[in-house]
Amino acid sequence: MRIVSFVHFAALTARHPISHSHKFLTIRRPLQRQFSYNSLPLQMASSSVKAEAEPRKRSSNSNNTSNSPSRADKKQKSGASSDIELLQSWIKHDNHTYHVETFLTASQAYQIRTRLVSWYRANRRQLPWRGDPGPSYDGSTVGYAASASSTASSKGKKKKGGKKDDGSNDGKDIRSFFGGASKVKRQKTTNESEEEKKEESETPSSMEVKEESNTVEFSAYGVWVSEIMLQQTRVEAVIKYWIKWMDSFPTVHSLANATPEEVNAHWAGLGFYRRARLLHAGAKRVVDEYGGIVPNTVDELMKVEGIGRYTASAIASIAYGVEVPVVDGNVCRVLSRLTGIANHIKAPVMKDDLGWELAEKIVKARSSSASTKADDDNLGTPGEVNQALMELGATYCSPAGSGIDANDPLVEFYVSTRLGRAIGHVANSKDGATRDHIEDLVAKGAFGTDKNKSRCRLCELNGASNAFYSISDRIAADLSTSPNVKLETVSAIAGHACLPIPPPKKAKREEVLAVAVISSRVADDDQLRWLMVKRPSEGLLAGQWEFPNVEVWTSAKADVKKGKKDKAKSKAAIEVPIIDPTKRSKALDSFISGILDEPIAKKKRKQIKDAPITHIFSHVCHTMWIEFNHLDEDIALNKRWKLENGREAGWMSEDDMKDVGITSGVHKILAKVKIM
Ligand code: ADE
Repeated sequence: MRIVSFVHFAALTARHPISHSHKFLTIRRPLQRQFSYNSLPLQMASSSVKAEAEPRKRSSNSNNTSNSPSRADKKQKSGASSDIELLQSWIKHDNHTYHVETFLTASQAYQIRTRLVSWYRANRRQLPWRGDPGPSYDGSTVGYAASASSTASSKGKKKKGGKKDDGSNDGKDIRSFFGGASKVKRQKTTNESEEEKKEESETPSSMEVKEESNTVEFSAYGVWVSEIMLQQTRVEAVIKYWIKWMDSFPTVHSLANATPEEVNAHWAGLGFYRRARLLHAGAKRVVDEYGGIVPNTVDELMKVEGIGRYTASAIASIAYGVEVPVVDGNVCRVLSRLTGIANHIKAPVMKDDLGWELAEKIVKARSSSASTKADDDNLGTPGEVNQALMELGATYCSPAGSGIDANDPLVEFYVSTRLGRAIGHVANSKDGATRDHIEDLVAKGAFGTDKNKSRCRLCELNGASNAFYSISDRIAADLSTSPNVKLETVSAIAGHACLPIPPPKKAKREEVLAVAVISSRVADDDQLRWLMVKRPSEGLLAGQWEFPNVEVWTSAKADVKKGKKDKAKSKAAIEVPIIDPTKRSKALDSFISGILDEPIAKKKRKQIKDAPITHIFSHVCHTMWIEFNHLDEDIALNKRWKLENGREAGWMSEDDMKDVGITSGVHKILAKVKIM
């Protein structure tokens, strides 16, 4: 961090003189350089950014534009000085209470809540589990905002397939998926009688919209299914799975009565199959222990398989109107930017601990003055507040969000942009004393040696100081490429981009697999059958059917051999070796001998030599070398049989595969073999 600061510092000072020796970033940047906005590497251009991105107007004797302050400048200055005070207090803070006491007071939390709710009601995504009428839903946040009107940027990585929605976007107009005003005015807060509850558990789960009362009745079961599907998977990918699921298993009872294979087949393609198994087990528990009625308190919900604090709180607040917060990565990002938390969104203190206290301030916020019915309605339901926070984190407040977009409902509340502006201002200010003072504070924060000094639990160790350096670096880098953008704009965006801080990257475990794809044909049937085995009931892809395969190399063992201690923290790419093809074949021969009779098992297979197939999971990467053959002899193609090790094997047609649900890794292999 410090080195980077020095790099920028050195680069800048080489070009532009600085007044005296500053220890850290001290940008005395002449502001007269000419660039086009398009070269701005921020890639987070919002409409408002663009509007500000016109070349700065200079006075005719333009040695320096920042002299002779106009009235507007003066006004700006007073904003700047309050931001600088804020910066100082932020760098000095040493207790987690600072964040709430300074940025989430009762009145701030109330304003935040009402802004969120009004934005959500007007703009939220139309989704089947929200009770919106179909048939066309548009759940995409991918296309959000980087729209024609360019409300936000596309810095975020594009997501493939079913990966969780983190709010990155790729250029569609926000209105194209924010499908208009919400029908939901008020959710049903449930104090229903037992009879009503029983009825609900038997009612098909698509939500009933009662037009006359403008009320949507949420099925707790439908919300539960949606929340489980949405973990690790993007909204737009989930929609069709949710609809099909609800069609096949419209009630908790019907899910509880389904076979594991039916459940698996409906989940196939969503990944993280453990979620489906737990959902199934959870449905059985709800039937057995709760009479088929999804519990309505967080504590009871958390007794159900697969329901942790997040899901319990989402179900309780959305389906039953319980006033509890919901905290996921998107919410943590919003909270970090609203309250200046210098940590990453996966930090346990955020996602499992204090993040919940912060979010609770918002979901429980009320007006301090006597409220009218209209005021109460503007507060929204807990479900609306929670979903608004999550949705904001996936859209305007995504990693790529600028923080200065006029359409962002919380644009006035982000501390991140204020800190950025203050840092930009200080670095370019002529007021050497303030600058020195702040640099001292930052240095003490980063390198202070007093171990007994109390520190903020919410921020990473030295978090504020390190974030200060990151923001400084970013401002310097962006200014040097885009000098025509106002310092204030660049700085605000930099502050927003650097909070929360990036999570530490973990290297994925690498595994090399040898895979055998063996096909045969039943005499009186045209369909090919493929030899499949079921994975063990524990671990990665537990219980899924796949082609016979053996692991021939894994980085986990290689790391142990090399005595690498901190392998999980290492970011360095792991080199995956090419394992000798004969060794791969032998390993497969011995594995298949446990499935088929020896002579057939050892029948020569053809190797697909051109390139292995890679398949990436959240924490493992598979490199799969495929061998295949077609058996012509007349062997009995048993549908299923048990192996000695307790696993199952079977000959499956593609229709059979559909029935049990195969993973996308198996799909990839099959597709490859079919074109060979
Ligand atoms: N992400 C996961 N669940 C969500 C919900 N209910 N609303 C918005 N975003 C979500």
